[in-house]
Amino acid sequence: MKYIIFNWKSYLNLSETLKLTKLVNKLPNSNKFKFIYSPNGLFTSLIKSHFPKSNVATQNIDIFGVGANTGSIDISLLKDLKIKFSLLGHSEVRSNFLESDKLVGTKLKQCMDHQITPIVCIGETLSIYKSKKTKSFLNKQISTIFSNKNNYQEVILAYEPIWSIGTGLTPQMSEIDEICSYLTKILKKYSFKKINILYGGSVNLDNIKEILNLPSVDGVLVGSASTKSSFINFFK
Ligand code: 13P
Repeated sequence: MKYIIFNWKSYLNLSETLKLTKLVNKLPNSNKFKFIYSPNGLFTSLIKSHFPKSNVATQNIDIFGVGANTGSIDISLLKDLKIKFSLLGHSEVRSNFLESDKLVGTKLKQCMDHQITPIVCIGETLSIYKSKKTKSFLNKQISTIFSNKNNYQEVILAYEPIWSIGTGLTPQMSEIDEICSYLTKILKKYSFKKINILYGGSVNLDNIKEILNLPSVDGVLVGSASTKSSFINFFK
């Protein structure tokens, strides 16, 4: 089974979101794919109440908890909506809201405490990639985010090179495979009930088959291509 996760970011208005949601919810249930989609935060509860059985992910959560926290998304409210997934540490959140690996680690722990499956995003900049320091950079991200003092439940880790997001560029298939294998290897020192490694960054109809065929890749996290009905219909 491979994870197919759609991150709709802030691309879609309400009627476009509902239209795509209906398409996703019509996709056949199979053992081959598990579909999760992440609408803009403003629409999450509406979508979840219209389609209670669907696998919806929030695009972020906060760490402040219940109380006087204006503008916050309290993780305990996800349970009220029966939402089971959340993206964490997406590079756009990191750059727009100055989120650090340390904060992503704190959010990860909160996800475990609230039985939310996190989709943790990591990835290097173009200059790190060009200077061939991707592995050491990812290693550092992992060791700041994860702790070997914790027993993690299910975690999804998405390798999303920042330079690949929204650019139409991707690493070579062999590089994606090598990095995802490397991540599997270095994650062995932590305790997980289940860990899946995904690739994200300019996934589209032209490259998805090849990426999903890579042995080390457990699925994909897709941004702009997933806002097109032709992409969703690929899985029919
Ligand atoms: P694109 O697929 O648009 O490159 O975005 C990837 C992404 O950021 C998914 O989280």
